[in-house]
This record gives sequence, structure tokens and C-alpha cells, in this order.
Amino acid sequence: MTIRAAVTGLGWWGKHMIRRMKDADGDLRIVKAIDNNPEAGAFAIENGVPFETDFAKAITDPNIDAVILCTPHGFHTQQVAMVAAAGKHCFCEKPLALNRAEAEASVAVCKKAGVQLGIGHERRYERAMEEALKIITSGKLGTIMHVEATFNHDKLANVPQGDWRMNPKDAPAAGMTGMGVHLTDLYLSMFGPITEVYAATTSRVKYKENGDVVSAILRFESGATGYFNAVLVTALYNTLTVFGEHGWLEVINETHPDTPGPSHLTVQMRDCERVTHTYQWMDTVRANLEAFGRACEGKGSYRFTDIEKIGNAAVLEAVAKSVASKAPVQIPPIKA
Ligand SMILES: NC(=O)c1ccc[n+]([C@@H]2O[C@H](COP(=O)([O-])OP(=O)(O)OC[C@H]3O[C@@H](n4cnc5c(N)ncnc54)[C@H](O)[C@@H]3O)[C@@H](O)[C@H]2O)c1
Repeated sequence: MTIRAAVTGLGWWGKHMIRRMKDADGDLRIVKAIDNNPEAGAFAIENGVPFETDFAKAITDPNIDAVILCTPHGFHTQQVAMVAAAGKHCFCEKPLALNRAEAEASVAVCKKAGVQLGIGHERRYERAMEEALKIITSGKLGTIMHVEATFNHDKLANVPQGDWRMNPKDAPAAGMTGMGVHLTDLYLSMFGPITEVYAATTSRVKYKENGDVVSAILRFESGATGYFNAVLVTALYNTLTVFGEHGWLEVINETHPDTPGPSHLTVQMRDCERVTHTYQWMDTVRANLEAFGRACEGKGSYRFTDIEKIGNAAVLEAVAKSVASKAPVQIPPIKA
């Protein structure tokens, strides 16, 4: 069996998914494309994917099992609810929601409908990140003291003025929804719940209203501290560094996750030689969609827990609140 999916939203990421899944014959295939802009249809047709403009009608098609949402963030919660009500599995691009309450609603509605809820945090499938997670959970680094990560690029540096990605309502706190949420998702998977954030944005050259830099200090429930930043207008710089009592590790990616290129994992233990492994690129978008497909087919569990899905939306909400208030914001515990 294979999960037959309809991708909704044929912008940057919906097109990327169609290209990446073109020859897929595994657990998930894209069999339909939906966009409320009829002009988007040309790309779908060129790629041999049937196209529709009426989302509400298209998702009731008995010949699809799942719907992938690659739409602007403000639509996610409502569209997840519509997909679940149609009895289809839903893969929602990040962020799942713009706040904790909406993420809780999306998790609850999918649970009630008995459908899977996937999430577009493909960075968890990067080989170097998987290896880093193994090292962290093995205890080799000892007690985790602190983590720092950056996700900076220029993929969104030239979006037109007025684009929804420049709007603080749809994409709050500069690059937080573009890149920051990927880092905080990795943090939640590696170090557990985040309980406090203190964030700032600034507008240096573009994104006048929303800022083109976001920077945040975090505290984890474990007691460790963290930091991350995302810059929307600079050359690619993509790193994660974890400091433990016995040593540290660092992942450096040479390319954006959508572009083939190697990544390097360095481990430096106290009083030891520094060791670096290089990992070849793999298509993590496809890996995530196929893992979601397998979960829909009942072939194993999906690696994102409900607590992490809600937790990341809570972190996003807290970052936006902290930017607005210029003060630290507490995140109450997330319950399943
Ligand atoms: N996982 C990743 O690494 C990654 C990378 C890029 C974007 N994204 C996510 O993908 C989503 C889309 O981002 P994008 O950069 O492709 O945006 P985009 O603006 O390039 O494309 C959005 C598309 O959605 C369509 N659309 C808008 N409202 C719609 C509606 N109500 N129903 C159907 N179609 C609608 C638009 O016509 C457009 O074609 C966002 O959630 C974004 O954060 C994820």
C-alpha cells in the first residue's frame, strides 16, 4: 500500500516537494496538487500532477489518503481541522501553529479523527543530527550544560514587499517561523522541554516591520541553557554546538537542507583528539514524508511526539511575546 497525498500550496515549498517526490514509489506518493491561485496549476500540470483550486472540495476526494499543507502559516490550524474532518491524514508544514492553543487544537482534532499529524521539521532526519542525538542520549557528553545553534541564509532575502512572510501576524519574530522553529524542534528532541525564552529582533536592511534578525536565550527544564539565532539576509551559516561536562560536539552544514551538500560532525572530548566525520547529503524532506506515510499505514510510529509538536508552537508564541515585551517569558509544562 502507498499513501496517496494531495499537496496544497504550490509556492517555494510545495513545488520543492513535488520535485523531490516525483519518482517516489514507496510509502507516500503525491497524486494531486491544490492551490487557490489558478496560475499555480501550470507547474502541477508540467509535472504530471492533477490540479484543483477548491481546497474544501479537493480534500474529500476518496482517492486521496492524506493532505500536505504548504500554505501560509495563518491557514494551518483551520486547514488541519478541515483535513481531519474529511478523515484524511494531515502533514502540516512548520510551524504547526502560531501559538500553543492552536497547536493543541490541531493535535486534538487529528487524535479524535484517528488520523496522523505530520510536521515539516525534516532537519531531524539529517544524518549528522541523528548521530548527534545518539551521542547526546548515550550520555557520552555527560550532563548537558549549554547548546547554541544558528540557521542563517538568504533564501528569503528577496521576497517582495508585502509578502506574507514579512508580516508579523503570519510570520512573527523575523526568521523565527522560517528557520528558528527548526532549531527549537531539534532542541526539544535532543534536550527536552524548554521552559523560558528571552528573545529580541532587529531590522537591519530589510523586513522593516518584522525584523531580519532574531536571537533568543533559552532555559530547558533540565536546567541547561541554550541560545539560537536566525538571520534572514546573509550567506548560509548553519551550525549546532552542544556543550557537555565531558566535551562538546558540533554539526556544521555546508548547504541549506533543500540543496545537496555535506555536513560535518566534530566531537571534542576533554583531553582527547578532536574527531570529525563528514556525512553526505540526503533528501530529508522525502525521508520525513515517507516516515509520515509509514505511520499513516500503521507501519511504526512517527518520531515527533504530540508534546513536542505543541511544545514548539508554545516556544514560538513565547519568542513573539518576549520580542514584544522585551522581557523573559515562561512556558508552562505541556501535557499530552
Ligand atoms: N520545511 C522547510 O524547510 C520549509 C521551507 C520553506 C517553507 N516551508 C513552509 O512551507 C509553507 C509554505 O511556504 P512557502 O515559502 O512555500 O510559501 P509561498 O508563499 O511560496 O507559497 C504558498 C502557496 O500557498 C498558496 N495558498 C495561499 N493560501 C492558500 C489557501 N488558503 N489554500 C490553498 N493554497 C493557498 C499560494 O497561492 C502559494 O502558491 C510554510 O508553512 C513555510 O513555513 C517549510
